[in-house]
Amino acid sequence: MENIHPIFDRLLTQKDKEQFLNQKAKVLWFTGLSGSGKSTIAENLEKQLFSKGYFVQVLDGDNTRTGINKNLGFSLEDRLENIRRVAEISKLFINSGIICINSFVSPTIEIRNLAKEIIGPENFIEVFINTPLEVCEARDVKGLYKKARAGEIKGFTGIDSPFEAPENPEVEILTADQTVEDSVNDVYTKIINHISLS
Ligand code: ADX
Repeated sequence: MENIHPIFDRLLTQKDKEQFLNQKAKVLWFTGLSGSGKSTIAENLEKQLFSKGYFVQVLDGDNTRTGINKNLGFSLEDRLENIRRVAEISKLFINSGIICINSFVSPTIEIRNLAKEIIGPENFIEVFINTPLEVCEARDVKGLYKKARAGEIKGFTGIDSPFEAPENPEVEILTADQTVEDSVNDVYTKIINHISLS
């Protein structure tokens, strides 16, 4: 059979799929404390990008810790494994040309470095959702800080388990003094050139 296009002579690559989707595949890696606003910003950013024609997937604790990672807890060892698996999944998405917004506490430099290595530094954009612990604790959306303070949850990030702030994030969002909409627009403006083909 005669091929009509040289593309069919070989396996499709990330580049082929990026051209098909008219975008550059990247992982926007959101890190920050529990309650910092990561997932809220991620969900809204996904909608904003989708409405502009970008093909996006959000990964977070809700859709990974309930399925592929449901055997994992919150020891540093389990968190490392959580992030390792998420990074491997993101790598597959990247290969399909998809933009991933990954929203994970990912509390240590070692954990985030592992993700960056697996995904490939050229595909990885670190976004620090920088919300002070006092603000996260005051919001306490899920009531988990109260439980952690009462000793009902052990090893809670920011209380009795470490959070190491990124040293040099590509994007840093200070959510305490701005609306969710402002935060989403901030990230959008800073990443849009990285995910656009032209
Ligand atoms: S990570 O550290 O492995 O990256 P991940 O982002 O998947 O964490 O999950 C964090 C979410 O799990 C928090 O937003 C919170 O709702 C919940 N959680 C439950 N126990 C803990 C804990 N000990 N430390 C942090 N978050 C916890």
